[in-house]
Amino acid sequence: MDEKKKVIFSGIQPSGNLTLGNYLGALKNWVKLQDQYDCYYCVVDLHAITVRQEPKELRRRTLEVLAIYLAAGIDPEKNTIFIQSHVPTHAEAAWLLNCYTYTGELGRMTQFKDKSSRYGESVCAGLLNYPVLMASDILIYNADLVPVGKDQKQHLELTRDLAERFNNLYSPTFNIPEPYIPEAGAKIMDLQEPTKKMSKSSDNPNSYILIMDPPEVIRRKISRAVTDSIGVVKYSDEQPGVKNLITILNAITGMTIEEIENKYQGQGYAQFKVDVAEAIVNELEPIQKKVNEILNDKEYIESIYKKGAEKAYYVSSKMLRKMQKKIGFIPVSK
Ligand code: AMP
Ligand code: TRP
Repeated sequence: MDEKKKVIFSGIQPSGNLTLGNYLGALKNWVKLQDQYDCYYCVVDLHAITVRQEPKELRRRTLEVLAIYLAAGIDPEKNTIFIQSHVPTHAEAAWLLNCYTYTGELGRMTQFKDKSSRYGESVCAGLLNYPVLMASDILIYNADLVPVGKDQKQHLELTRDLAERFNNLYSPTFNIPEPYIPEAGAKIMDLQEPTKKMSKSSDNPNSYILIMDPPEVIRRKISRAVTDSIGVVKYSDEQPGVKNLITILNAITGMTIEEIENKYQGQGYAQFKVDVAEAIVNELEPIQKKVNEILNDKEYIESIYKKGAEKAYYVSSKMLRKMQKKIGFIPVSK
């Protein structure tokens, strides 16, 4: 008998142009998981509006992120690929879960603390509640596994706490989802300040590589990446810049850290940087070509997100109804 496949849910916000960090920390791993699992990959536009978005840009990026999913190799026949705002159960279940979440636990989230310190008093309530929406995303599909980068681990822990709280209060309802944080590429660092994570919201374009950056831009950014004066290619916390470039090369080529250190022994950084840049270009160039092809085919892309939303709605409304029933809401019909 066919054993039921375990369920995966993950998403990326269309809040900026996707970076090499998104690609190595998230997307590249999603592709590897699609055969073994029943995967839901979502463009989380409801999350993106927790910071102000220009409508035209949001529209453009939402479709671009979807095209990047497809171009990176996520097969729409095997996976459910969709846009979060097309599936109303996410926001509805998030409201329910909000009523089981303490403001104290939300205020302790590192990402909220970081962002609210930047926006001060005018930080919106959505930013505080954002992890509850993320919990809703995951729990309404009864996901077993959530592949994310390290920065999302705390949000996953909150999701698990909420699932347990609901289960204990009523009766077993949700799976307790596990984070899936693969070692390679789990945290790609900023190229200019390699002690910070590479982020699409950075003000300095030299600090990140975008998935859609042209080859010459990638080469330039890597050649300008901050290293140190030690001059040895070594994976060490004392050399965060070099360590990060080793991580990138390892995540793309699969060469081990020792192999990389040995290859560049006694050579300084010049050739090493050239090779890192070439590895990135070779990986991203074919993806960029496909993204552009997909974006030019509006009908194809629409057919994918429509089909994805239908399937996602069908599956998630069952869980939403279950939650409503346990809470004590009166069903419209049986
Ligand atoms: P976000 O860009 O915050 O929507 O993140 C989307 C996904 O990419 C999440 O799974 C993150 O953990 C992952 N991610 C974002 N930035 C990085 C990075 N610098 N290194 C590794 N993974 C990342
Ligand atoms: N919060 C995630 C991020 O910023 C994106 C996200 C939203 C997500 N919902 C999710 C990731 C559900 C995994 C599962 O990266």
